[in-house]
Amino acid sequence: MSDAYGQLLDATIQHLENLKSRSVRHVTVAPETLLALSKPTVAAKSAPSPTRPAEKAAAAPEVNTASIPETTAGVSDSPVKKSAGLKIAAYTALSERARGCVKCPHLASSRKHVVFGTGSIDAQLMFVGEAPGADEDEQGEPFVGKAGQLLTKIIQATGLSRADVYIANILKCRPDTPGQAAGNRKPTPEEMQTCIPYLHEQIDLIQPKVIVALGATAVEGLLGKTVGITKLRGNWQTYRDTPLMPTYHPAYLLRNQSLSEKRRVWEDMLAVMEKLEMPVSDKQRHFFIKA
Ligand code: URA
Repeated sequence: MSDAYGQLLDATIQHLENLKSRSVRHVTVAPETLLALSKPTVAAKSAPSPTRPAEKAAAAPEVNTASIPETTAGVSDSPVKKSAGLKIAAYTALSERARGCVKCPHLASSRKHVVFGTGSIDAQLMFVGEAPGADEDEQGEPFVGKAGQLLTKIIQATGLSRADVYIANILKCRPDTPGQAAGNRKPTPEEMQTCIPYLHEQIDLIQPKVIVALGATAVEGLLGKTVGITKLRGNWQTYRDTPLMPTYHPAYLLRNQSLSEKRRVWEDMLAVMEKLEMPVSDKQRHFFIKA
């Protein structure tokens, strides 16, 4: 049994256990999922490119099964289609588990949405932030507020779109701010520890080639390092064999408008593009350098 198949099977079993613990006794399973589960196959290796065009049907701003039919339609003998079906089933099961999570009762009772993640489940590039803010809690999608709009611009400057990459946070719920009408707070160590298994599973499923950790909390959550982000940014780290680039959080760039800080983040992105063997134009290479 391959590692990937074993992980997907574990995710499926975990999901079924959860349903059982909620007294659900019957589940509807699509025929193609049953077939895929009964015949494990090895997923095809794809060429190194920022996204995998053949599998792009699964890419959507918020990954949802509505965008899936092209990948899973009908019962096919193609190993790629079968493994894609399994991956989608495991992703859906994981996101449903997170969406029903009440492990932090204070966050579960204050949240409007669980902000699970967005983008392509086949992305080669994954961004990890801290936690949803008010806008993200309202809309159920990570990085849609002011900092998110800046992140979207950064992604677009590389030639990619939000749908090509995957975006998630260390915490899936907005840290509550009781007694305050507005504002954000940093997640507590307990909240991070409780929530991080969801992100580990997300990364295991998506298997990005590169992770970008946005800010100190993302680095701390993924690597357990509390070294200042100023020291760490721009220096490749490793998350479970995956190269990880720490960089400044876009919210920091909004607070600090200096060109040199923007250039530093851009240099980190250039390094990421090179690692992914993406083309880099002269114009891109010279962004934020004064003529
Ligand atoms: N900041 C984050 O770290 N994540 C979001 O989703 C939004 C803002």
